[in-house]
Amino acid sequence: MAPEMNQKKFFIKTFGCQMNVADTERMSALLSEGGMVETQDASQASLILINGCSVREKAVHKAVSFLGEMKVLKREEGDTRTNNEISWSKAGGPIIGLGGCVGQLDKGEIFKRAPYIDFVFGPDAIDQLPEIVHRAESGDKYKSYTEFDPLMSYSTETKIASAKAQAFVNIMKGCDKYCTYCIVPFTRGKEKSRTISEVLDDVAQLMKQGVKEVTLLGQNVNSFGKGNPNVAGLEPKELNNAIGKVGPRAGDENFPQLLRAMDSDPRLAGLKRIRFTSSHPLDFSDELIECYHPVTGVKKLAPHLHLPVQSGSDRVLQKMGRHHKIENYIAQMDRLKAIRPDIGLTTDIIVGFPSETEEDFMQTMNLLDRVQFDLIYAFAYSPRPGTRASKLPDDVYKKEKNQRLNRVLAHQLTIGEKTFARRVGKTLEILVEGSAKTQSMDHASGDSVWTGRTGCNVIVNFTSGESRNLIGKLLNVKITRSSSLSLTGELLVDPNHAESIATDSEAIWRNAPKNFAYKSPIQSEVVV
Ligand code: 5AD
Ligand code: SF4
Repeated sequence: MAPEMNQKKFFIKTFGCQMNVADTERMSALLSEGGMVETQDASQASLILINGCSVREKAVHKAVSFLGEMKVLKREEGDTRTNNEISWSKAGGPIIGLGGCVGQLDKGEIFKRAPYIDFVFGPDAIDQLPEIVHRAESGDKYKSYTEFDPLMSYSTETKIASAKAQAFVNIMKGCDKYCTYCIVPFTRGKEKSRTISEVLDDVAQLMKQGVKEVTLLGQNVNSFGKGNPNVAGLEPKELNNAIGKVGPRAGDENFPQLLRAMDSDPRLAGLKRIRFTSSHPLDFSDELIECYHPVTGVKKLAPHLHLPVQSGSDRVLQKMGRHHKIENYIAQMDRLKAIRPDIGLTTDIIVGFPSETEEDFMQTMNLLDRVQFDLIYAFAYSPRPGTRASKLPDDVYKKEKNQRLNRVLAHQLTIGEKTFARRVGKTLEILVEGSAKTQSMDHASGDSVWTGRTGCNVIVNFTSGESRNLIGKLLNVKITRSSSLSLTGELLVDPNHAESIATDSEAIWRNAPKNFAYKSPIQSEVVV
């Protein structure tokens, strides 16, 4: 009998952003350390966790409807009683916990509507999860674990459940920006950062697990370091952008310092790519732009930037409480492109914010032409209870919001077609993530079809005649074709490029799953 036959199983359903994906990975690692095993089949699990997202109404609905699906598992087979007749606290079946930003906001109200849920927990309670589960199993149910401790400093060690080439590393949490439409400051609390030396130690550990690319995570990573003592003894640095001084006071740690420290730490020599998300234009300093310079900048920093702009209209931006102007955003993008012409740019857009006129919307369309993003993540505005914008009349009708959403997406497709086409003929380094879903490539030859990402974060599908597993390898691919969403290429075998030759020295990857399901690192309802 396999040892795991006796072990209790857990199932986690994740909705939302990379932060939630990283949180799920942490939950999974903690529960596995406690002796449980993960299952992809909820009906086999004795513990079901829902890691929900509350950033938009649609996301909350997804989590709630998934919860409804889980309810049947609480019943014994053949139980014909109605929901009202069941005493859920005594019902058999799995323990069910609701977490993430949905759990944080709910604070226990859900028990009235969904008494089959055993506990609710917020992002700050993840490390207590094994204890919380133990309590629920012992009958201590209907508890909400959603306290923030504003005095506690933020320290965490990245936990990844298995060896892999990419890892998410939380470097800060919370957000002090309070954009008028956004629920995040209420679900994730105030900004807190880890220290530079703690992040370096953490990434050094990940290197031992075969990691080659890290994505530094936070709601606003470029305000990293605010309030932290300068324990790494780095040169104090004032940060500026075109609007004026930004970021922490001189002497505090800051984000460009972290990037440069990661570039020069000898323990991180094997780290090939650093990405980060998400950022706010107000804290996007000139010093951070300098980090993208191919010679004087941070060598490991991938040539990609996701910088949410939300709207092309200054009037709407002001109502959104964004505190930045379009002129400044364009100037930042122009400087960046001048320093790093191969950079890939992506952004978030909200359409149909209260009072947005056709003219405001056209300014957003014009901004897309001006900046030439590779991709946009576009959303129809949805009021979030408790935010300042939710008190404004939601006066752009649903039909109009949806039409604007479709128009902005269609427009971006025409732009993406051009930005992607510019890469045809180039040789780009790809970090292989899995087998491509697409069947459109030449299968008659019997070649494997693989998918990966360039440094500029574009998806590339390519064929390879080799039978070995390429997941986790950095390979050179010559780009032969493009669409408005991805590139197609051919694997180049370069004898000088350590990983493109068929060595099987990295045993760690030999057993990696070949049918790895590709998942976009940025989750959104609409991606173009
Ligand atoms: N309605 C629509 N989109 C929203 N976003 C955040 N809050 C809302 C809301 N209330 C979008 C923003 C943000 C992304 C993560 O989600 O574009 O950058
Ligand atoms: Fe929300 Fe981002 Fe604004 Fe913070 S900066 S309030 S996370 S949209």
